[in-house]
Amino acid sequence: MFRIDRNLTADDLDKALRSDVAAGLTAVPKQLPPKWFYDERGSALFEEITGLPEYYPTRAERSILEVRSDEIAAAADAETLIELGSGSGVKTRLLLDAMLRHGRLTGFVPVDVSGDFLAASARGVVDDYPGLDVHGVVGDFEEHLGLLPVGENGGRRLLAVLGSTIGNQEPGPRAVFLRDIRAVLDAGDSLLLGVDLVKDPARLVAAYDDAQGVTAEFNRNVLGVLNRRLGADFDPAAFDHIARWNAGEEWIEMRLRARSAQHVRVADLDLEVGFAPGEEMRTEVSAKFRREGLAAELGAAGFEPSHWWTDPAGDFALTLAAA
Ligand code: AVJ
Repeated sequence: MFRIDRNLTADDLDKALRSDVAAGLTAVPKQLPPKWFYDERGSALFEEITGLPEYYPTRAERSILEVRSDEIAAAADAETLIELGSGSGVKTRLLLDAMLRHGRLTGFVPVDVSGDFLAASARGVVDDYPGLDVHGVVGDFEEHLGLLPVGENGGRRLLAVLGSTIGNQEPGPRAVFLRDIRAVLDAGDSLLLGVDLVKDPARLVAAYDDAQGVTAEFNRNVLGVLNRRLGADFDPAAFDHIARWNAGEEWIEMRLRARSAQHVRVADLDLEVGFAPGEEMRTEVSAKFRREGLAAELGAAGFEPSHWWTDPAGDFALTLAAA
């Protein structure tokens, strides 16, 4: 069976973009949420980032799954895999394969904000996993968790949030998000989280400021998104890409810094904004985790961490926690 539920229309997304941009460009200091990076070009640039020599997280997480997916499947012992934000890639398939080998899997619920992306990737899973019940959900998983088709068949569920996606949230919203996830799960269900770990700042900064400049293009592309979708007239080339390790918060932050004074009009918002020379606008935080800290966050959200796996270098971790 294959179906897709849409909790989010193009119009909802448009409204969210407008309100985020209006708020972010008038805030002091200015900032934009990272979720608007991912238009078609931004998603293609992110794909390219995952293959860069400096960007280890994707490879590290995949290598953990290659070794541990059977252990994960056995520990979760689940009938349904719910995956927030993704849903067709190599990592998803490693999990699906292991859960099928384990012998209990009957359903897959990919959740993504992009309806087009979700439809295409869910279709791929349907084609390659005949007999699997695929129930895609288009939604903003920070807002629509309550709309997940959970517990349909009464079986245990494994909810996966891979790729250090959770690192894009600051601690306050992250705590709310983890509690919200816990609230839609039942006792016996599990959460699988992929998180990037604190390490040598030089390696972290290199991962977000690669030699080929792909991450810089990815960062500047958010200005292109505003130009294309909101009729803004940003000159992306007038902004420098900045990746900085914030040691106090233990996160990487990406910023765009105006090389000179900029005057920008956002036609669809009837908004004019100025950037002083050197003014910086934060476009992303990517938090890095430690085992103890994450266990405490999971505990506070009502989870009981049960497993912790890293790649041999200790760069990235997968953790499993019981609801
Ligand atoms: C997809 C959010 C996990 O934070 O590493 C990659 C996005 N930003 N390079 C990350 C990203 C710059 C990525 N996440």
